[in-house]
This record gives sequence, structure tokens and C-alpha cells, in this order.
Amino acid sequence: SMLALAACGSQSTSGPEGGSKNEKLVVGTDAAYAPFEYLKDGKIVGFDADLLKAVMKEAKLKYELKNTGWEPLFASLKSEQVQAGISAITINDKRKQTYDFSSPYFESINKILVKEGSPVKSVDDLKGKKVSVQNGTTGQDALEKKFGKGEANVKKYETNVLAIQALLNGEVDAVVADNTVVDEYAKNNPDKKLTVVNDKTNFESEYYGIAFPKGSENKKKIDKALQTVIDNGTYSKVYKKWFKV
Ligand code: ARG
Repeated sequence: SMLALAACGSQSTSGPEGGSKNEKLVVGTDAAYAPFEYLKDGKIVGFDADLLKAVMKEAKLKYELKNTGWEPLFASLKSEQVQAGISAITINDKRKQTYDFSSPYFESINKILVKEGSPVKSVDDLKGKKVSVQNGTTGQDALEKKFGKGEANVKKYETNVLAIQALLNGEVDAVVADNTVVDEYAKNNPDKKLTVVNDKTNFESEYYGIAFPKGSENKKKIDKALQTVIDNGTYSKVYKKWFKV
């Protein structure tokens, strides 16, 4: 099979998946979502990058992690320009219609990032306020579910970095994004004087998965490797490296 050839470094160029020309899997990400994926000295680093490295080593798959950006990542999965995506991607029913996902590897929930002293104490308090989100995220979905689609107060940015920038600039009153990301940002930037609001009545638990084009043959192999990495303690090493528990 192509996978076996890849494992022994063959230069074979034909793959079974829609004309994939290289045995090396291209894995897309949006490297603007610390601590999961971000650029450091031009390199993509983070929890996801380290987990992927461990999983691909276990699966004996060669890969290249590519900074595609967030929305282009989904387009690239659909057109099979990339063979997988790891980017703190929440597994949900909407996405499952178009993509396959690995087993869940990380639990998450949306939270609200505001400036210290903000009157916002819950999702309900966001009514009539300007809120930034990264375009096409579950944070956007949650706000649209709550306040209706096209609600003028939800401002969408291409990256979460820009969504946070909008809060710092005073363009918006709040940011909605994944808990780990906003918690780390607030903690690592005390000079910015930010507070994180947790609202478990309005936001639901989510789980991240590695995404694949529908019908991908890599899913099974990667799921197996992910389970091994969890069972043999590698996952918790990576977890401790990034989350210091
Ligand atoms: N977990 C959220 C979602 O799936 C946000 C993920 C954003 N990830 C990123 N690398 N920008 O919608």
C-alpha cells in the first residue's frame, strides 16, 4: 500500500486518494492560535504540532505541517490539497457532513475575553455589545445561535489574533474564543489587563479532532496511533509541556 511505501521512504508518486502526488501527507493548520499552533522563529509550534509529531511518528507517516490559515484549511481539505488538518478544530455535526474526524483529543469550551472592569459577566450581557470572533469558528456559531444570524454586533476576523487586537484597540467590547486560548492570552499578557468570563449555561463542551477529507484512508491509522500515544504516556508529556500541570 502507499502507506507501507511511505514508511520505508520510497519515492512512489501515485496515491489512492484523488491523485495525491506525494507520499508525504500535507497537514494544514492556522498557526495563529497559541498555545495550540503559532509561529515561533518562523516555525509552527504548539500543543497540536507536538501531538501531531508524536502521532505521525507512531503511525510511521511522513508529513509536513503547513500554515494554510483557518478558512483556507477547510477548502483545502475539501479539495484534498491537504490530507489532514490539525488546528484546535472542534468536531461538530455541521463539519462532520463534509469532513471526517479522528477520535477527540482535547476538550474545550468557548469563553469571553473582556477588559478588566467590563460589565460583561455572561453571554446575555453581550446583547447590544460589539463582539469579535474568528470567522468560521464555533464561537461565531454560538453567538449566532444566541443572538441570531447576521446580528450586527458580531464582528468576524480572519484570525483570532486580529479578533483579540480588535478588543485591545477598543473596536469591540469582547472576544469569544476557546477557553485555553483566551485563558493563556490573559495570563501571559498581564499588562493588557484582561479578564476571562466563563458561561457554562450558554456555551457547551467541545472536542477537538484531526480533520480529514471525507473517506480518507489515513483516519484509521491515525486514530490507532493517537490511541497508542494516549496509552503510552506520550500524550500526557505533551500536555504537561504546554499546560504545566
Ligand atoms: N475550536 C474552534 C473551532 O473549531 C476554534 C478553532 C480555531 N483554530 C485556529 N487554529 N484558529 O471553531
